Amino acid sequence: MRKLTGWAVVVSGWALWGAEADVGLGKRLYESQCSLCHGEDGRGGRGPSLAQPRLKHATDEAALRTVIASGIAGTEMPGAWQLSPREVASVAAYVLTLGKVAEEKLRGDAARGRGVYEKQGCAGCHIVGGVGSGFGPELTDIGARRSAAYLREAVVKPGASAPEGFLWMEATTVSGHGARGVRVNEDTFTLQLKDMTGKFYTFRKGDLQELMRMVGESPMPAYEKLSPRELDDLVKYLAGLRGRP
Ligand code: HEC
Ligand code: HEC
Repeated sequence: MRKLTGWAVVVSGWALWGAEADVGLGKRLYESQCSLCHGEDGRGGRGPSLAQPRLKHATDEAALRTVIASGIAGTEMPGAWQLSPREVASVAAYVLTLGKVAEEKLRGDAARGRGVYEKQGCAGCHIVGGVGSGFGPELTDIGARRSAAYLREAVVKPGASAPEGFLWMEATTVSGHGARGVRVNEDTFTLQLKDMTGKFYTFRKGDLQELMRMVGESPMPAYEKLSPRELDDLVKYLAGLRGRP
């Protein structure tokens, strides 16, 4: 009996993977069966936002199909047992479209923008396609995650955007030692910060006198001196970074 179940799972896994997707059908199914929890536009509600290029559980299309078909055990995410493999594949294909910020028509020249990126030393704090250093957030797929207007603001007024999960903090201990850095880890008793030079600090929370989250302030310099053309080019370059090819 156990063997038979295993076989059935293998068959349905294969059927899921091989199924052809129809995005239009996926959209209709999404609206009737998923939007209640994930929102009409996929921006989330009772369930998380699906309008992002990287999902936590569904890391690729195969995993996405499995999550949709089987749900996530122990959470409110139900398995869509009522859907056929083709329907699951179609909903998955539609969900993937939710995560892509539409490409906008932009002024500027991406190749020149890349030159601006290099000249300004952005790679000192950001990684694109494995190149650079990772103090700031990775930008490899930033164009798929953020609008051009957001990117422009992020460059000129870094404090205005606070990417989720990026906490810039200052910790001071009772004995007067302190550090400013990005929170990389925290548990009940300890807090770990990484400063701009990449150095790690671990604090015991019991030793802390003050811990401040610096809202509206960013360790990223504001690039206000770029000419309008350089800024257009840079934004065009960033908007074109849409993940690994
Ligand atoms: C009853 C509410 C509910 C319905 C209906 C529902 N979901 Fe979910 N879904 C959730 C919740 C809650 C989670 C988060 C589970 C967790 O990780 O805690 C989730 C998680 C997910 C994830 C994983 C997100 C990630 O970050 O990896 C995907 C993908 C997903 N849902 C797609 C769908 C699709 C497609 C449908 C329709 C076929 C659907 N869901 C229907 C509540 C729902
Ligand atoms: C000294 C380090 C540093 C330098 C140099 C730097 N950045 Fe940043 N950047 C950061 C940090 C830290 C953040 C996250 C905090 C924030 O948004 O203010 C960030 C955020 C961003 C974001 C928003 C990311 C997101 O996920 O929302 C973009 C876009 C960006 N930087 C582009 C650039 C570009 C383009 C340059 C060069 C012109 C540059 N950065 C130079 C540190 C730096």
